[in-house]
Amino acid sequence: MRLDSSSNVNMDTGVFLLALIACVARPAEALDNGLALKPTMGWLHWERFMCNVDCDKDPDNCISERLYMQMADVMVKEGWKDAGYEYICIDDCWPSRQRDAKGRLQAHPKRFPGGIKKLADYIHSKGLKLGIYADVGKNTCAGYPGSLGYYETDAQTFADWGVDLLKFDGCFMEWKLLGEGYVNMSKALNKTGANILYSCEWPLYEWPFRQPNYTAIRETCNHWRNYADVFDSWNSVKSILQWTASHQDIIVPAAGPGGWNDPDMLDIGNFGLSHVQEESQMALWAIMAAPLLMSNDLRDICPRSKELLQNSHIIAINQDPLGKQGYRTATEDHFEVWERPLSQNRLAIAVMNKMEIGGRREFFIRETPSWKICSPQCNVTQILPQYKEMGLQTPQSDLVVSVSPSGTALLTVTPIRDFTSFHKLHQNDLTVHHKRIIL
Ligand code: GLA
Repeated sequence: MRLDSSSNVNMDTGVFLLALIACVARPAEALDNGLALKPTMGWLHWERFMCNVDCDKDPDNCISERLYMQMADVMVKEGWKDAGYEYICIDDCWPSRQRDAKGRLQAHPKRFPGGIKKLADYIHSKGLKLGIYADVGKNTCAGYPGSLGYYETDAQTFADWGVDLLKFDGCFMEWKLLGEGYVNMSKALNKTGANILYSCEWPLYEWPFRQPNYTAIRETCNHWRNYADVFDSWNSVKSILQWTASHQDIIVPAAGPGGWNDPDMLDIGNFGLSHVQEESQMALWAIMAAPLLMSNDLRDICPRSKELLQNSHIIAINQDPLGKQGYRTATEDHFEVWERPLSQNRLAIAVMNKMEIGGRREFFIRETPSWKICSPQCNVTQILPQYKEMGLQTPQSDLVVSVSPSGTALLTVTPIRDFTSFHKLHQNDLTVHHKRIIL
């Protein structure tokens, strides 16, 4: 059964589908390592810094220990850590071209003079975690040594260094061996006894040949890339959303605490997205329960992008403890509606304006497929484009959101079943208010 409506979905179907995801569709068992109970938050170098290894010419931006140490410093100083961003992740191009005499991977000696263990110690001293990158096949995508034939050695090396996350790419591997490779590395990591979060690209490399087995993937990995690399452009973000919506019946049920679909990095703060497009990426990554791995230069980021990435209301949707991934519930009049069930029967709604000409367009919120949760009443908060308490609403409400071309309005809806629950909802506010007055 498809969860998507590629054309219009009426209200009843939308409500039914949402209820189905919320109640029936329990994800398969997750990888049992106690990690990624909420989507991972952090920073990953690839989209912004790629394989820049020329430290003579470009010492500030090349892949070197300095880059990660500086990012860690800024993470702590500029409120990123407090906002929830935790992992600083190295991507491709960090190792030496040769393994050492014992067959172990080694960091490039000139660019990482202290070695990875020292870097991990530094990152840990800041209260952060360190991620590293390797590949299931013969080589990494950029041609550095791959882990094929060395899974146990590499897992042990990463554990000895104190690494906290492994991104395991899928280049240079025969596709039929992908599953075995990813599973064996998962076992090897587990065998070390270290807490290493396991980020896979297994389905991305399998899709060209067959539909991946998401039950097995969820049992093996803490998150997994399904689709092409994100680029610093609106077209790239749109294509990821389109792919996700058109495969949501397959991939959404696989997500839940311990394992998540990974639509790739956040480009926010770079060159290619307008601010409203940045808002769209942030809103939709929250709806998709996606890992929030920024790839940008935290040392030099504009205040609006920073504020968006640190927006606690959007982060709370992304990290919602119910752990259900949202999905597209309607496409209508060049709008896309995406919805995500949240804890305490709440709902997040994103309305994206797909019309890339003209000005802002209005959308009646009561046309959202799940708006029935507003019967008899609900409380609505708009988070994007501006934070606004929209107050009590009913099923007949005339509430509209005004959405810029390629922008997204993001709302949360809290149903109010009867006077008692309404009272409870507001009692907390009153208590807080009351305490403040007393103080
Ligand atoms: C692949 C991955 C990217 C990045 C590069 C590095 O393309 O999908 O995320 O890791 O390799 O070479």
